[in-house]
Amino acid sequence: MNTQTPTDFKIERLPKELQETFRSLYANGHAGAEYLATGEIHHGDARELLPKIAPNSVALSVWSPPYFVGKEYEADLTFDSWQNLLETVIAHHFPIIKPGGFLVINIADILVFRDEAMPRVQADVVQSKRSPVTREDVLRAMTEHPEYNRYQLAKLLGCSEQTIDRRLHGNNIRGGKYEPQTRVKIVGGLIEEWALKAGFYPYDRRIWVKDAAWENSRWASLSYRSVDEFEYLYFFWKPGITKFDRARLSADEWRNWGSRGVWTFPSVRANDDHEAKFPLELPLRVIRLLTDPGEIVLDCFMGSGTTAIAALQLNRQYIGIELQAEYVELARRAIATGVQIKLLAESRNEASYAARSSSPATQS
Ligand SMILES: C[S@@+](CC[C@H](N)C(=O)[O-])C[C@H]1O[C@@H](n2cnc3c(N)ncnc32)[C@H](O)[C@@H]1O
Repeated sequence: MNTQTPTDFKIERLPKELQETFRSLYANGHAGAEYLATGEIHHGDARELLPKIAPNSVALSVWSPPYFVGKEYEADLTFDSWQNLLETVIAHHFPIIKPGGFLVINIADILVFRDEAMPRVQADVVQSKRSPVTREDVLRAMTEHPEYNRYQLAKLLGCSEQTIDRRLHGNNIRGGKYEPQTRVKIVGGLIEEWALKAGFYPYDRRIWVKDAAWENSRWASLSYRSVDEFEYLYFFWKPGITKFDRARLSADEWRNWGSRGVWTFPSVRANDDHEAKFPLELPLRVIRLLTDPGEIVLDCFMGSGTTAIAALQLNRQYIGIELQAEYVELARRAIATGVQIKLLAESRNEASYAARSSSPATQS
């Protein structure tokens, strides 16, 4: 494990403030300290456990945090405490990532973000103007019956009170009169700000096109908002020497996804044991692109263990952190199964290799 001062890159080439951060980091030293073990899912809060990882040891940290979209495991978070969680976790990454290594964050914008200050959306829904009652009819009825309220006018004209309102005021208040309005909260800017503050540099961004969540898009047929069908992958780089190795992927893989900004693969369909798993393909691609076998991959929002399984499949070491005891257990079970499947596949490969190499037809 690399816990040494990175003498192989030039600290003087960094911005002044970062030079200070780097120097104090390496000057403090952590000799003799007990660091979190690799090959484990550690139970606890990422904010408390990340500082216990060996400095400069992690080649890649890849994770998907709570998105602040009302999942069960984020029920206690306010928007402020959610921001504080992510900012703190990102800051704690800087000391532990290897110089030249990466932090990759999979996240989505918050599509239904309550905003008290937002003016009400005044929707003029063309398709709902089915009543033949016109504005002129309402105005005529009001002249003939100046004492009538809108309920009496509605009864007189054989339409709803909303129709009377709509004909008089020309619009509809969306989402109920007293409910706060909702808008999109774009999170990329926040993440960039926190990463830069921590010492990282934005290196790349990709889009993961997932399954379209039609069942969640209450507004899809009543507004111009699109259905929820993509997420982001933000890549942040820690200054240092980064190895570029075209042999990590085949020529086809470089063409099909290694060099592509848009990745398309399905979401996890059976989220029956964890509400928000990402598909195995996601960490598999990131790990293959950015690390070599034997290096350490971290996921501090480990959930069901997907990143650890990907790391194991690719012969990387992993460190996992997860807050909820039930998910720690779930991840450990999934990893144990993953290890068994891998061992089985390897022993099958060895057996067929042995059979092939001992068969006279294949001997040279
Ligand atoms: C979006 S899910 C990650 C799912 C994971 N990628 C998978 O494929 O299963 C976020 C996870 O972060 C965990 N979590 C939330 N707050 C945490 C914290 N402060 N420290 C560690 N884990 C936390 C949640 O319990 C949840 O399992």
